Amino acid sequence: MKGFDRVARLYRWAEYATFGPILSRCRLEFLSTATDAQLALVLGDGDGRFTAALIGSSPQIVVDAVDQSTEMLRLLSARCDSERVHTHCIDAMRFDVRGPYDLIATHFFLDCLSTSDVHTLSLRIAASSAPKALWLISDFNIPTGVMHWPARMLIRFLYLAFRILAGLRIQQLPAWRRALGEAGFQCLGSVPRLGGILIAEMWELQPPVRIR
Ligand SMILES: C[S@@+](CC[C@H](N)C(=O)[O-])C[C@H]1O[C@@H](n2cnc3c(N)ncnc32)[C@H](O)[C@@H]1O
Repeated sequence: MKGFDRVARLYRWAEYATFGPILSRCRLEFLSTATDAQLALVLGDGDGRFTAALIGSSPQIVVDAVDQSTEMLRLLSARCDSERVHTHCIDAMRFDVRGPYDLIATHFFLDCLSTSDVHTLSLRIAASSAPKALWLISDFNIPTGVMHWPARMLIRFLYLAFRILAGLRIQQLPAWRRALGEAGFQCLGSVPRLGGILIAEMWELQPPVRIR
């Protein structure tokens, strides 16, 4: 077994044991804004808890669920037993993004990528998304103020743990907000939790600016 395959079955329990229900609340924060979506791209959903909630709340939605861990995708398929969910076991950077997607979701996934990869991926996604497509994100965050150093230390510890357990090579949070902004997305809402160490955000693809 390699990568996240090694931690797949324990992942949910380890999460509840360390953070309780807070990560789940982040994932579901903006779910109600996505009920009209038709075609979703869910990257790195792991064991499929977000995808299960998504197909449960959007009766018409069809989902492309991309994850490079076969074990994670096996759990996702068991949880989301629906012909509306198409699984793709591939590195997200090599996934042929087609769309047109009106919903993109990445929960605790962008932190597995470098800034340069998030930049490339965001541009590809923007090119294959419908106008005003929504992108729901939850992730770890380094806030300013009193929680800055606790956040840095916790995130450093988590990267070390995932390096040992899942062989994750990335060791720092990418500058994903800048990458999404440069790809044409705009932040519509941001909900911090745990003093800003966790963040749930909703971004929308803006129409291209026409210069006369
Ligand atoms: C930290 S887990 C997050 C899982 C889930 N989204 C959640 O909210 O808990 C990261 C997931 O992204 C997947 N992943 C990491 N890097 C990837 C990549 N480059 N391409 C596709 N999947 C990737 C892992 O296999 C894992 O399932």
